Amino acid sequence: MSVVTLRVNGATHEVDIDPSTPLLYILRNDLDFRGPRFGCGLGQCGACTVLVDGAALRSCTIPASQVSGEITTLEGLSQNGTLDPLQQAWIDEQVPQCGYCQNGQIMTAKALLDQNPSPTGAEIRLGMEGALCRCMSYYRIQAAIKRVVEGRVTASDTVATDPGEEV
Ligand code: FES
Ligand code: FES
Repeated sequence: MSVVTLRVNGATHEVDIDPSTPLLYILRNDLDFRGPRFGCGLGQCGACTVLVDGAALRSCTIPASQVSGEITTLEGLSQNGTLDPLQQAWIDEQVPQCGYCQNGQIMTAKALLDQNPSPTGAEIRLGMEGALCRCMSYYRIQAAIKRVVEGRVTASDTVATDPGEEV
């Protein structure tokens, strides 16, 4: 066991862990961030995606002890209780079906738009490749991303009252 320091959503956390423990387990089980999900555990589905220094990272396969950057989880997207435009667009388009993959979809989309705020349809499809949805909500995911790109997100007073709220 050893003490590992993680920066998550702007706060510093120290956890005493087996250094080989995947980041996902620490986020969910030790720090209670329930946005990132366990899907495959093999880095192949995207359900566990978080941002590290703005880049999408699959947290199920990387040891927490190897992560030194600023981690952002789904809970960290809302600012001062107001949803991120992507979260609002997801509501506008009623994207989720079972919802299980949606953390990974939104976090992957966030990384995509932060890197390229005006992607074409083809660039959206390419950027979201590998974020798997067994409910096949891909069309609505792409529509929600286009809403943000085109500035058509509902002006919203939607407030995230629970920091663990999943959209
Ligand atoms: S749970 Fe991490 S990629 Fe599937
Ligand atoms: S909404 Fe069910 S897996 Fe994507």
